Amino acid sequence: MTLLQTHNLSAFYGDFQALFGVDVTIEQGETVAVIGANGAGKTTFLRTVAGALAAAPEAVLFDGKPIGNMTPHEIVRLGIAMVPEGRRLFPSLSVEENLLLGSHSERRGPWSLQRVYELFPRLRELRRLPAPSLSGGQQQMAAVGRALMSNPRLLLCDELSLGLAPVVIRDIYACLGAITAEGTTVVLVEQDINRALDASSRFYCLQEGHLALTAPTKDFDRAALTAAYFGL
Ligand SMILES: Nc1ncnc2c1ncn2[C@@H]1O[C@H](COP(=O)(O)OP(=O)(O)OP(=O)(O)O)[C@@H](O)[C@H]1O
Ligand SMILES: [Mg+2]
Repeated sequence: MTLLQTHNLSAFYGDFQALFGVDVTIEQGETVAVIGANGAGKTTFLRTVAGALAAAPEAVLFDGKPIGNMTPHEIVRLGIAMVPEGRRLFPSLSVEENLLLGSHSERRGPWSLQRVYELFPRLRELRRLPAPSLSGGQQQMAAVGRALMSNPRLLLCDELSLGLAPVVIRDIYACLGAITAEGTTVVLVEQDINRALDASSRFYCLQEGHLALTAPTKDFDRAALTAAYFGL
């Protein structure tokens, strides 16, 4: 069953066009990577799906329903959550208060404070601390936990690995299995291409706002990916 579909999706910042007619289809339960060079439009793609950037209503279909013109709040309530680039935790709030912010959509499902703390036991120990006192990796866990607290059907992850040590990245990626085991569909945007391809079954490669290549991650032409990535 198709969970997310974009059809001829375009996105603008004022007069600047950042996405050009992007067609993506993501099936329920899949983990899909979106890769591309700096400025290719990866974050813009996630922001249009999450409602932070307006699109034509029919350009984004979630569970068959047009959501392109919905607000971020409405979209979270439908079951789409984003882990934003740079984590964006609220610095004046504790770790636990940040997590609880994610539950405001009041969606029912498997995720609760208890389950998030089981997934990331360190967060339970650190729960009363202000978010900025955590390490980068711990903040990333809190950002993932906050998104899970809305019990999303679709989890959008923007650069989970950015700025983190390899051992920390491995720990965070190791948790993806527990998340997808709940039936959650995941879109991974990554600078670390190999990490993204390892963790997904299919990828889309964007190049200067255009969809340049899509293929299964188990069987694809490396030369075609290099060309699609760098625009050679
Ligand atoms: N707020 C904004 N205002 C104007 N232009 C923007 C804005 N955000 C992004 N852009 C432009 O839109 C294009 C796509 O940017 P986007 O952030 O989606 O790329 P990206 O693939 O996520 O890149 P990165 O790997 O650097 O995160 C770029 O040319 C960028 O300069
Ligand atoms: Mg980005």
